[in-house]
Amino acid sequence: MKVVIFGLGYVGFTAACCIASQGHEVVGVDVSRRKVDEINAGKTPIVEPQVADMLAEGLAQGRISARTEIGDALDGATLAIVCVGTPSATDGGHNMGYVADVTRQIAQALKGAGQGAPLTVAYRSTFRPGTCEGLVQPIFASILGPDAPVEIVYNPEFLREGSAVKDYFEPPKIVIGTADGRSSAAMEALHEGIEAQVFHVGFREAEITKFVDNTWHAVKVAFANEIGRTCLALGVSASQVHKIFVSDTKLNISPYYTRPGGAFGGSCLPKDVRALAHIGADTGANLPLVDSLLRSNEAHKHRLFEYAVEGLAPGARVLMAGLAFKAGTDDLRESPNVDLARKLLTAGFRLEIFDPAIRADMLVGANLGYAYSQLPELEQLLVTKDHAEAGGYDRVIVNNATAKALDLTGAEIRDLGSLR
Ligand SMILES: NC(=O)c1ccc[n+]([C@@H]2O[C@H](COP(=O)([O-])OP(=O)(O)OC[C@H]3O[C@@H](n4cnc5c(N)ncnc54)[C@H](O)[C@@H]3O)[C@@H](O)[C@H]2O)c1
Repeated sequence: MKVVIFGLGYVGFTAACCIASQGHEVVGVDVSRRKVDEINAGKTPIVEPQVADMLAEGLAQGRISARTEIGDALDGATLAIVCVGTPSATDGGHNMGYVADVTRQIAQALKGAGQGAPLTVAYRSTFRPGTCEGLVQPIFASILGPDAPVEIVYNPEFLREGSAVKDYFEPPKIVIGTADGRSSAAMEALHEGIEAQVFHVGFREAEITKFVDNTWHAVKVAFANEIGRTCLALGVSASQVHKIFVSDTKLNISPYYTRPGGAFGGSCLPKDVRALAHIGADTGANLPLVDSLLRSNEAHKHRLFEYAVEGLAPGARVLMAGLAFKAGTDDLRESPNVDLARKLLTAGFRLEIFDPAIRADMLVGANLGYAYSQLPELEQLLVTKDHAEAGGYDRVIVNNATAKALDLTGAEIRDLGSLR
């Protein structure tokens, strides 16, 4: 198949590499000239295991190309996949501007090309249930008429940054949302050889899937951390309580995200929880639990800050190991560790940061904007492994598995990933 991918960020670029590796021809379209130039030159715009080799192979075999303009990209294409961002809007809902913009571009390109073979347009961006029917379909109908030769699909993405390629080929499930809840030939071809339970559902069930998953993860983290803070306040061992809790596999099921420790963060959970809270208010569904998740998380971030600097005076020299919300990714958007760094600087600590996935000069797009708006001094704060291991810190704050790369013998450590 020829597959055209709109949005070459963490989701779209990973999909481009994986789909090309399956033997399809992939054309990527992104408004960022820098990302497009980097991809065509063989440089990956994101830090993610395996993608660099896959890009090199895709380029060598002539299966991957990137461009900033749609032009004739859709000529001969079977499938378009939309992976543009849906960041938080000022009201807490998702900003749908990029999805609308790309949908208009696709419709206009199809109109210009005349009546060709039908194109499947699959949306992977996370957005509110009702969007395919209330935003996407009307845009196609207004430009191409009611019989537009377009099959719209909603296909949520379940990859996790840091293991995105593995997750792409081994997804926990595949959800295909269509107008009539039936299968889509193009999506079946795309998922050929990928083993996972497949759900064929209507648009709305498919659209809400990511909200349910992400909010559930946030609920678990917030719950575990509230129990952890209670344990700390009562002088009870949080780690022992956790061990007892997860030993019950009849009712407490999965141990994931139940250990008291870090706050939740990253480019998806906070913004999707915020968007669900907005939907709750907007529809009158009334969601007090969801409404309180971000406040609970903020309370936890504050408690972690207090714990991290306990016994230290301002001016103390502090190393933070890990800046991204998890090890192995350079995505800094809504990382709780970025908040922590800002709090440490504001409180007057002499901060240095070790995170080998972050290269200040390599950040690009929304990630670059977020990083520098929160930490304008980022470039000066980052230190090398040798520098970090030279020691002399009053405290080392361990934020994520990044610290495993360091020899921290003799250091005064506070591990925020696991409350004891
Ligand atoms: N990052 C994840 O782990 C993850 C996982 C599942 C779902 N999602 C969802 O997938 C979507 C994309 O997330 P992401 O992290 O890849 O975002 P991202 O910000 O990394 O990438 C989005 C890309 O879209 C591009 N773009 C914006 N407008 C465009 C246009 N008109 N034409 C072409 N390109 C355009 C941007 O330049 C950017 O490169 C979001 O809705 C997100 O919620 C993300």
